[in-house]
Amino acid sequence: MRQDIQKAAEHFAKVLEKQVERVETMKEQKEFVDYDALDKLVIGIVGGDGIGPAITNESHRILEFLLQDEVKSGKVAFKVIDGLTIENRAEVMKAIPDDVLAELKECHVILKGPTTTPRAGDPWPNIESANVAMRKELDLFANVRPVRVPGQNIDWTFFRENTEGAYALGSDGVHVNEDIGIDFTVTTTEGTDRIARTAFEYAVKNGKKKVTVVTKANVVKTTDGKFLNKCYEIAKEYPGLEVDDWYIDIMTAKLIDEKRRTQFQVFVLPNLYGDILTDEAAEFQGGVGTAGSANIGKRYAMFEAIHGSAPRMVDEGRDKYADPSSIIRAGIMLLAHIGHPDKAQKLEKAMDICSNIEKKLVITGRDTGATGAAFADYIMETIKKLG
Ligand code: IPM
Ligand code: MG
Repeated sequence: MRQDIQKAAEHFAKVLEKQVERVETMKEQKEFVDYDALDKLVIGIVGGDGIGPAITNESHRILEFLLQDEVKSGKVAFKVIDGLTIENRAEVMKAIPDDVLAELKECHVILKGPTTTPRAGDPWPNIESANVAMRKELDLFANVRPVRVPGQNIDWTFFRENTEGAYALGSDGVHVNEDIGIDFTVTTTEGTDRIARTAFEYAVKNGKKKVTVVTKANVVKTTDGKFLNKCYEIAKEYPGLEVDDWYIDIMTAKLIDEKRRTQFQVFVLPNLYGDILTDEAAEFQGGVGTAGSANIGKRYAMFEAIHGSAPRMVDEGRDKYADPSSIIRAGIMLLAHIGHPDKAQKLEKAMDICSNIEKKLVITGRDTGATGAAFADYIMETIKKLG
């Protein structure tokens, strides 16, 4: 075999070995952690980069306020984890420094601010995204992204597969020679099974009637084909649900079709399509800055804002004016996930009052508007009034 092909083939063998190992680990981890059965639930607070620490701190204050009784009784503890910054990551050349990863693993759930994702040409080394690494390291396979626009009858919940597809091996591609670059994408039976079940279970528990699978299985036949077939196979266990499927291209079009889009409820889709479609969907709700995202695994869960770290705001000294809404929304999902749906609802209601109804404070991102801290205080005052 030619030498360059030989080298690439060896690389591919290594890639496969890692995937086989990953499948074994998935098979071992069958059950979700039961938070009620824990003596103490640990919530990690990770600020991240840029405006991350400022906005995450505001969401943290609100969570401490809502969970004060649980903290007093020792049922819940907060753990602030510094160090997931681009400076530290660049210094050790790792997506997540080892000491930070060890601290993350001491938590059950994590609230995470935005982290800078370097790309070729940046002043930073081109290390893997901390988000993507955390999803893989903590096996956070379900990325759940709700999008609601009540006035337009939009009520969607996306279940984006979070550990496979084009992302799983996004940093493991190979330049075979000067002319050929190859990337890999992976779909596994176990990985598809768990995301499909999570989406179907959610649909049943939340009174949804329809789940839509999105792929490009007509072209990407092996991996997307497997994803689609597996979803339909598991759907047979949920006879009460209507399950249909669409290709990603026409799906992006149908989301802007006002008559069609209101018929969709729950989506389940591979990683990359989920990345793209959820940005489009969030735009109807006011942009990615308004959306929260839950990354759920069987042992860990992480809740994050889906916008970027806005380093320019920090350079211009405006981080205290950054809008904490998205990371507060992530906090709402965290509260619901750890078994406090009542507190989650209260916070959601207060957010709605402060952002859409009363609007006593407005955030503009500059000193023409309120600070994130003032906004968080306003929310807590509103919660107190709600009783
Ligand atoms: C998201 C983001 C990330 C992703 C980036 C920051 C790596 O776009 O959470 O959707 O592509 O998953
Ligand atoms: Mg994205």
